[in-house]
Amino acid sequence: MNRVKDKVIIVTGAASGLGLADARMLTLQGAQVVMTDIDAEAGHAHANDIGAIFFAQDVSDEASWAALMSAVEHQHGRLDGLVNNAGVAPIASIEDTTTEMWRKVMGIHLDATFWGCQSAIKLMKKSGGGSIVNMSSTAALIGLGPYLAYSAAKGGIRAMTKSIAIYCRQANLGIRCNSIHPGSISTPMVHTALKTLLNTDLMAEEDPEATRKALGIGEPDDVAHMVVYLMSDESKHVTGTEMVIDNGDTVI
Ligand SMILES: NC(=O)c1ccc[n+]([C@@H]2O[C@H](COP(=O)([O-])OP(=O)(O)OC[C@H]3O[C@@H](n4cnc5c(N)ncnc54)[C@H](O)[C@@H]3O)[C@@H](O)[C@H]2O)c1
Repeated sequence: MNRVKDKVIIVTGAASGLGLADARMLTLQGAQVVMTDIDAEAGHAHANDIGAIFFAQDVSDEASWAALMSAVEHQHGRLDGLVNNAGVAPIASIEDTTTEMWRKVMGIHLDATFWGCQSAIKLMKKSGGGSIVNMSSTAALIGLGPYLAYSAAKGGIRAMTKSIAIYCRQANLGIRCNSIHPGSISTPMVHTALKTLLNTDLMAEEDPEATRKALGIGEPDDVAHMVVYLMSDESKHVTGTEMVIDNGDTVI
């Protein structure tokens, strides 16, 4: 308990899946969590349940970042952590991806991660440091045929993370920046992918847990444990890394 006691941590895309699991575990470990999401109804409900604060945000809107940081500074006076987690994953190969789809994915993943990191660093500097986690994917390491824009965006997040990490280290800002690369984890995003690509409805199975395990799919807490570690001072010597959580998928 209390591995991130009193740290003020923002988690984006926290109304569902991985972000929700991160917010819940960070709160259990003593953090003051600010959850953001474009889905305000679910976000508010989950934040009430967890004992966190909710801020409605479309991460692909640049102005939302200044508003969020200003609210956090006003309410908490500091920022210790940011988890850039919000995401979408439209299924479209190089032949099927439209320009509109491409721009939307880049906006939610790449633009938002850029704005999130930039605005967080500004606030973290005032209190002497912090930790940023950018949610990438194994798609950044191996590329996924049915996910052209998503693979490109996650690859960009991986490289952006390393640039930020080394800049912050050289500028002696006390700010660490790492990326996490999950394989398949059981969330609504992956349930949709399973239905579309494999014609499998995990949630309609008689024993979804058994099927999840049989398919080698992880659970959201597998990622949340890593987020807690990277947000905590236990990882004070860890920056610029890519933490792969995929049950070995990328090594076989
Ligand atoms: N589940 C996996 O297997 C997996 C694997 C690798 C990476 N990821 C990444 O993890 C992150 C979370 O994915 P998930 O599986 O929990 O998906 P999810 O669909 O369950 O949750 C995504 C959340 O992001 C929010 N969101 C979408 N667009 C937004 C926007 N413009 N502004 C603010 N919030 C927005 C959604 O409302 C939702 O609450 C994503 O970045 C995803 O790419 C997931």
